[in-house]
Amino acid sequence: MCGIIGYAGTRQASPLLVEGLQRLEYRGYDSAGIAVLDSDGQLHVKKQQGKLAKLTASLEGVHPPGTIGLAHTRWATHGKPSDENAHPQQDCSQEVAVVHNGIVENYLDLGQELMAQGHGLTSETDTEVIAHLIEANLQNGDELHEALRHAIQRIEGSHAIVALTKNDPDRLVAARVGNAGGVVIGYGENEHFIASDLPALLPETHRVVFLDDGELVELTRESVRYWDAAGEPIDKEPQTVPLDPVAAAKGTYKHFMLKEIVEQPECVLDTFRGRVLFDPPSVQLEDLDMSADTLRNIERVVLIAMGTSLHAAMVGRRYFEELAGLPAEVDYASEFRYRSAIVGPETLVVSVAQSGETVDTLEAMQEAQRAGSPQITICNTPGAQSTRVADATVYTRCGPEISVASSKTLTASMIALYLLACHIGRVRGRLDETQLAELTGPLAHLPDLMGRVLHGAPAIEELAHQFQSYHHFLFLARGLQYPVAMEGALKLKELSYIHAEGYPAGEMKHGPIALIDEQMPTIAIAVRDGMREKMRSNIEQVRARDGTVIALINEGDTEMAQKADHVIEVPETTPLLLPLLTVLPLQLLAYYIAVLRGCDVDQPRNLAKTVTVE
Ligand code: AGP
Repeated sequence: MCGIIGYAGTRQASPLLVEGLQRLEYRGYDSAGIAVLDSDGQLHVKKQQGKLAKLTASLEGVHPPGTIGLAHTRWATHGKPSDENAHPQQDCSQEVAVVHNGIVENYLDLGQELMAQGHGLTSETDTEVIAHLIEANLQNGDELHEALRHAIQRIEGSHAIVALTKNDPDRLVAARVGNAGGVVIGYGENEHFIASDLPALLPETHRVVFLDDGELVELTRESVRYWDAAGEPIDKEPQTVPLDPVAAAKGTYKHFMLKEIVEQPECVLDTFRGRVLFDPPSVQLEDLDMSADTLRNIERVVLIAMGTSLHAAMVGRRYFEELAGLPAEVDYASEFRYRSAIVGPETLVVSVAQSGETVDTLEAMQEAQRAGSPQITICNTPGAQSTRVADATVYTRCGPEISVASSKTLTASMIALYLLACHIGRVRGRLDETQLAELTGPLAHLPDLMGRVLHGAPAIEELAHQFQSYHHFLFLARGLQYPVAMEGALKLKELSYIHAEGYPAGEMKHGPIALIDEQMPTIAIAVRDGMREKMRSNIEQVRARDGTVIALINEGDTEMAQKADHVIEVPETTPLLLPLLTVLPLQLLAYYIAVLRGCDVDQPRNLAKTVTVE
């Protein structure tokens, strides 16, 4: 995620901003920048590609003077890492400074419109259009917070934005739109802070407010004011978060499980940010230490994993077949390690393990290593054992997953596999630039679409009330949605202790249909991915036997909705990316049922976060 920090108070801002960025460095970035307003109203901006140490070195020990400012660490999405593309981004007059986390999905159209109005855009970033929109709104007489509010009405996507202007030197303004980036406000004595997440603030204050989707805030040394998306003033009371950083990280959430479900749009953005450039389209896996020749000599792929990570691997298998053009198979690591698998230098073994310490996965990796197979691992834990066994690693960059049941590492692993398959497909000449653009383009909209699904949580909670007392569930799907059905069943099992089975729907007539009755609800995933018609038939078969069906469908599919007893709707996206949307309601359903059943959601009975013993 991009790191954001802002300060308005009585102390010199620059050292505080740099310290705040240092506390966000764990997130990874390729550029850093700072903007400080001094008492004469001069705006000092310093930004460049490279690490924070390089930025602070360029300050040569002389921090720009001023008691109000903002700072940023950037992962590139639009515009390569460069000094010009680093944040803060500014307007024509260099009087406005903006830092941003998110993707302005309509930045090209807005850029054209602004240039037609005489604005001179100088960077390759999507963010710069925000600075010019604010400039234009200020020129129209808006106060700073209104200028930002009118600007966010024009931009599409999910965002966290902080801005200031030298012409109104006492305040910072910020806005949060969607789920791609948090905004936390910290309350001090005669000073206030703003940051993209809690760790940046904790050493300075434990009194915080979390901005919600659509809200805006204005900070001065003395005051904090809030507005809703319509510009109406709202009240938000600061809360005191625990001193313990881990407990504090839970923020306002009742459970880490819910927090980690909700932060998936941001995690997915973190996973592909800095690795996907949209214009021109490219996938760059900077930490993939495996040569193009090695990848070209691969003849097949074997994926190994356990639990939720296996379900990500099942989705990844399709990605390798369709995007890299390689035969691919998936196996439980616990099975692979004992079956004398036929693998060798021609087989790329891809392991998925968010902890990187799962014993069966590590043992299977060592089996493959003995067979001479090149290995890539997908991992969320820097320096984990699996990253030392594999030849190369693609990190998911989700930040620690505290809940025992996995959620954000699943969707992040799927995206990591998607990027890896695109990269290999490109290296092997299977994908040309046009095809790559068709595959990377939809990623820009994915965090926003995931956020839209998560906004439907209240309807899922209502379903949970209706289904909390059943003892058995069947999850049915086909193709790329079959792993999602498996994951939905696993979540329900491990969180609420209800028996649930995930099945390929084509298997129904080969046995499971005998189970159908009014005591066994069926969750059927029937989205527009080429399997919809077949799934409609399966839904009809279940209903014909008095089975209750919850159908997970695409928005507006009224015909399918009429076939089911209950529906859950998700937006459209490409079939390959639909699993990242359909899994979200199933995670939420399992979570809410578990809460209603009084289960220990973050530490389910009998389970460990990492299975390091057989
Ligand atoms: C899933 O919710 C469980 N936490 C468990 O199945 C987990 O996915 C499995 O143990 C694999 O863990 P890993 O990704 O760290 O290897």
